[in-house]
Amino acid sequence: MKNNRLVIISHRLPFSFTTENKTTTLKPSAGGLVTAVKSLELSSFAEKPLWIGCADFTQRTWDKHHGLVDDSFVYLPVFIDKRTHKKFYNGFSNSVLWPLFHYFSTYVDYHDDDFKAYRLANEQVAEKVAEALQPNDLVWVHDYHFIPLPQLIRERQPEAQIGFFLHIPFPSFELLRLLPKSCRNYLLRGLLGANLVGFHTSDYRLHFLQSVQMALGLPTTFGQIVCGERMVDSGVFPIGINYSLFHDAYHQEDVEQERQQLRTSYAGRMIFSVDRLDYTKGVMQRLDALEAFLTLHPEWKEQIVFLLVVIPSRDEIQSYWERKQMIEQAVGRINGQFATLTWLPVVYRYAPLSFPQLMGLYTACDVAMITPVRDGMNLVAKEFIASRSDQQGVLVLSELTGAANELGEALRVNPLDEFEVADALKQALEMSPDEQTRRMEAMQQRISQYDVKKWASDFIEVLVTTPPAEHTGT
Ligand code: G6P
Repeated sequence: MKNNRLVIISHRLPFSFTTENKTTTLKPSAGGLVTAVKSLELSSFAEKPLWIGCADFTQRTWDKHHGLVDDSFVYLPVFIDKRTHKKFYNGFSNSVLWPLFHYFSTYVDYHDDDFKAYRLANEQVAEKVAEALQPNDLVWVHDYHFIPLPQLIRERQPEAQIGFFLHIPFPSFELLRLLPKSCRNYLLRGLLGANLVGFHTSDYRLHFLQSVQMALGLPTTFGQIVCGERMVDSGVFPIGINYSLFHDAYHQEDVEQERQQLRTSYAGRMIFSVDRLDYTKGVMQRLDALEAFLTLHPEWKEQIVFLLVVIPSRDEIQSYWERKQMIEQAVGRINGQFATLTWLPVVYRYAPLSFPQLMGLYTACDVAMITPVRDGMNLVAKEFIASRSDQQGVLVLSELTGAANELGEALRVNPLDEFEVADALKQALEMSPDEQTRRMEAMQQRISQYDVKKWASDFIEVLVTTPPAEHTGT
């Protein structure tokens, strides 16, 4: 990699700006991708990596304040006009691709002009990338916002070495075929512009390969697609977390404080969940399961509390703000039904958490109830496991998450079956400390080995060695 420069392309740049009282400050973000990319041995590349993404600030702000940004990367913001961006992001990306790829086909709200804006935004990004590319660059494109980008870059730079990673599920062809033919073929052709396409699980990869065969009639062998003169490779790379960050924070002073506060506030056993506001996360079904649990096992009334944290997200989209209202109604209903004058079964919070607050929650609670209806991976489950350096705590995990493949010692449930989830909750609350330790140890060992650094370096290693290969035919 000594000869290569790394070029990361993602919808969001790893920072934003906030202005208060006429003073602008930089707000770095700490999502999974940022952690992954920053964990790479950046000095092993030929020069400083380039990060290209959509600006959520104005050109003027950038010109004035780009000096505030860290210098481990060169950043190239793409300024897409507001109207186009809204249709690209709220429209096609989050009201078509997101619901469809998570099997919520009835939430798909397809409009031709949103698709047009999606294509336009991708073309504008492709232009920027093409202008910036140098020979020997390794281009790594991320997620569903930029599915067409590999092909759009290849049209401009035929020799480019391009990797694409999808952070959400790739659905069965039965879902993809609901899109207009020209649209789904455009998306598939977009991905085939890459040299390597990566997924979290082998199921997602298989769905992709099947879709390419069914929709485009292209032959595939051993995970490779014969695409005219080129071969396109595919691979499975389950994303991990910064294991030591979570594992080592247990005794941090601010974390201990948060943990202590929770323990003194709630006398009984604590169950928690943390999710971005999203219908894919199964919060309504989770609340139904809690209701079933309290109905079936009244002996647990006043003995437990469920701390339900929802992080604000995409709330300009109807299906998101509606979901918030539904959750709030359900919380009210359950509390109204079961609360006493001195006990509340559900404590609900709609706000982001700081790292110490998050760690406090992970390490104070007895049970993590992570039950999305669909989730590409789910990093909260992995963070919870990593955070428990006391090796206590039980994870109740939806089998419809990518993480369930790696976390076999969790109590895995079908999130739609409220009685199965209620049973798992009971089993979790009654599990002996020894069994908790045995399960935790096994999961910790696994996820500490395949952490985020390994994920990113594996992808890059495979990308470097994927031949730019001309296909010679058989
Ligand atoms: C998912 C997606 C990411 C996205 C994140 C937050 O994890 O895979 O690409 O950045 O959600 O969503 P947002 O719409 O706020 O970027």
